[in-house]
Amino acid sequence: MTYTYHNPTLIEFGKQKIESISTYIPKNAKVLFVYGGGSIKKNGVYEQVVKALENYEVLEFSGVEPNPTVETMNKAVKIVKEKNINFILAVGGGSVIDGCKYLAAASLYEGDAWDFLDGSAQPTEALPLGVILTLPATGSESNCGSVVSRKTTNEKRFFFSPKVFPMFAVLDPSVMSSLNDRQLANGLVDAFVHTCEQYITYPNESLLHDGYSETILKGLVSLANNWDKRDTYNWQENLMLLANQALNGFIGSGVPQDWATHMIGHELTAFYGLDHGRSLAVVQPQLLRVMFEDKKEKLLQMGQNVFNINDAQKSIEKIEELYHSLGVSTNLSDYGIDDKVVTNVTSALEKHGMTAIGENQNITLDKVEKILNLAI
Ligand code: NZQ
Ligand code: ZN
Repeated sequence: MTYTYHNPTLIEFGKQKIESISTYIPKNAKVLFVYGGGSIKKNGVYEQVVKALENYEVLEFSGVEPNPTVETMNKAVKIVKEKNINFILAVGGGSVIDGCKYLAAASLYEGDAWDFLDGSAQPTEALPLGVILTLPATGSESNCGSVVSRKTTNEKRFFFSPKVFPMFAVLDPSVMSSLNDRQLANGLVDAFVHTCEQYITYPNESLLHDGYSETILKGLVSLANNWDKRDTYNWQENLMLLANQALNGFIGSGVPQDWATHMIGHELTAFYGLDHGRSLAVVQPQLLRVMFEDKKEKLLQMGQNVFNINDAQKSIEKIEELYHSLGVSTNLSDYGIDDKVVTNVTSALEKHGMTAIGENQNITLDKVEKILNLAI
């Protein structure tokens, strides 16, 4: 196997770590403190951040929405440019962090930064970005991906750039006590699917990568089995650890990766507003059924090493049961879709050049149609 792996994000993990940010933000920095709809004002995070930034020049930008949009983030770009901001601090879940990655790169770009999302340009520079994570799910706190939407065209696209790796990420599980069941379940499902996208493909040579992925999957299954303990620090700490490792780039290095569930799920969210985690729960089981021949060896391995069963088909049932046990429906008709769902998703994928996705580039639009029809 061959790969290049470099993850430069410094992690501060544990209680009371928010105060450590002043160690890393340069003393003369002019900081834009960015957050979402206000959850940080109800759980003490806002006060901790304000205290940690007391010796800095700080401006605030709030209102980053779940599934962040360029329409909102371009307002922040304007502020950064007008006020000569030179450090971005993202405080929130994947949406705030992703929005800030776009912001960090867009602020130093002359053109329309949607260019990064439609693939017509790559960031060549970005402002430094620090992160305080409040919702473990996406892994965005220590990866270089960003998913941003454009409301006017119903599009949800992504870009990757080493320029937008956060410089540091604070992971303090105490901030999770204000998360509700839906957010915790979404986070668990997202981390589970991230691991599967890098694991349920075809056999590879690495005992380390498979073993690492299986440890993450077993950990998430164990959290689901102990759902009644989700209010405890220990449960929440484990979700934060697992979700971070599921998408910090390592388990996918040098091994085949799928990501088709994500590509289809993103289109569902763009059209119908499904929570990210739920869009994945709808697509993944049916995708595994339609692509069974390609994936059966890894599904069997997953059955043996994660679920303790000796049956590849049953692994898919186990995955579905896992989502149901968290109160997450895998049925598309539970999510307010209309009769155009199949056409909307397949034509958007076509427009975005995603007509042959998955680890073997053989999930074509007819297969996507099959997957969605099974999911309805
Ligand atoms: O906006 P606020 O008020 O903060 O409320 C948020 C939001 O309503 C709330 N929340 C966050 N932390 C909280 C809290 N509520 C109470 N207590 C807390 N401690 O949770 C709601 C959802 O937040 P959001 O950031 O949207 O969730 P998530 O972290 O799941 O992020 C989802 C976004 O990340 C993208 C998704 O597509 C979606 O846009 N992804 C990013 C990836 C990446 N960069 O690597 C990979 C993923 O696959 C994913 O696509
Ligand atoms: Zn995801």
